[in-house]
This record gives sequence, structure tokens and C-alpha cells, in this order.
Amino acid sequence: MNGVARVFFLSSLVFGLAGLTLGNIMAASHDHSQLPTHAHTMVIGWVSFAIFGMFYHQFPAAAANKLAKVHLVVAEVSLLAILIGLYMLYGGNKSAEPIAAIGAIVYAVSFALFTYIAWCAVSAKR
Ligand code: HEM
Ligand code: HEM
Repeated sequence: MNGVARVFFLSSLVFGLAGLTLGNIMAASHDHSQLPTHAHTMVIGWVSFAIFGMFYHQFPAAAANKLAKVHLVVAEVSLLAILIGLYMLYGGNKSAEPIAAIGAIVYAVSFALFTYIAWCAVSAKR
């Protein structure tokens, strides 16, 4: 794995370990207040980012496109904003809501960009 595929996949492993650590802490402490932070770390950070990594590995021409680098940077930064915002929000800091909200909107935009990249790559004639 190289380039964009490699960074997406390696970061999915880091998000996976972080999310599982949080899940175990929640289970052990019987305090599930960080459920949304754990859930989104697992499903966006581990599952989606691993899928992005495998997609770009399978479609090297799409991965070589500059748009894929934009997708990578925007997705990583916006997911960090979502997770930091959610962690603070569900830790009781209501003022963190805009961080999670802006992160979520930007993440959705990055997913629209991925939809375009993947749609073009998958429907292109070979
Ligand atoms: C070490 C393994 C794990 C532990 C100890 C753990 C722990 C937890 C706990 C304590 C909750 C809160 C349950 C509740 O309050 O209803 C939860 C929810 C959740 N976990 Fe995990 N988890 C683990 C692995 C995973 C994995 C691998 C994924 C996904 C790839 C995942 C995704 C979720 C989701 C989506 C929810 C929210 C479920 C809902 O909305 O009812 N977890 N987990
Ligand atoms: C970035 C845009 C997203 C926003 C704004 C968002 C927002 C939300 C909200 C408001 C909830 C309900 C939380 C609650 O009732 O406490 C939720 C739950 C959930 N979302 Fe998302 N979500 C986003 C992305 C995603 C993605 C991409 C996935 C899957 C890959 C996902 C999977 C889930 C799951 C499994 C739950 C149930 C667990 C929970 O209650 O936290 N979400 N999401």
C-alpha cells in the first residue's frame, strides 16, 4: 500500500485502537456517556477509513489524482474535529458543540468529494 491508501489505512488502525480503548474504559467504568464518541471513532475512524484505504489501494489511478489528497486531508482533520468536539461535549462542555458541528459538516463535504472520486473511478471504462 502506498500514498493516500497507506495513510488512510494506517490512520484507521490508530482510530480503531483509540476507539477500542475508549470502549473498554466505558465498559469497565459503567459510564457510557462517551457512547457517541466511541461509536463514531469506530465506525468513521476504523471502518470507513479502512474502506477508503482499501478503495484507493484497488484504484491506483484515483489515488494518484490530487483530489484524493484533498479528500485525505479534509477527512482526517474534520474527523479529529468531530471526535474532539464530541469528547468535550459529552464530557459536559457544551461550548464544544460548534467544533463537532463544523467538523461534521466538513466531513460530509469530504464524503461528497469521495463520492465523486469513487463514482468516476468505478464507472470509467477499462
Ligand atoms: C473492545 C471492544 C469494545 C468494547 C469494550 C465496546 C464498548 C462499548 C460500550 C460500553 C458501548 C455503550 C453501550 C450502551 O451504552 O448501550 C458501546 C457502543 C457502541 N460500540 Fe462499542 N465496544 C467495543 C468494540 C466496538 C467495535 C469494534 C465497534 C465497531 C466497529 C463498536 C461500535 C459501537 C457502536 C456503533 C456503539 C453504539 C451502539 C448504540 O448506539 O446502541 N464497538 N461499545
Ligand atoms: C459527520 C456526519 C455525522 C453526523 C453529524 C452524525 C450524527 C449522529 C447523531 C446526532 C447521532 C445520534 C447520537 C445520539 O443519539 O446520542 C448519531 C448516531 C450514530 N451514527 Fe452518526 N453522524 C455522522 C456520521 C456517521 C457515519 C459516517 C457513520 C457510519 C459510518 C455514523 C454512524 C452512527 C451510528 C452507528 C450511530 C449510533 C450510535 C450513537 O448513538 O452514537 N455516523 N450520529
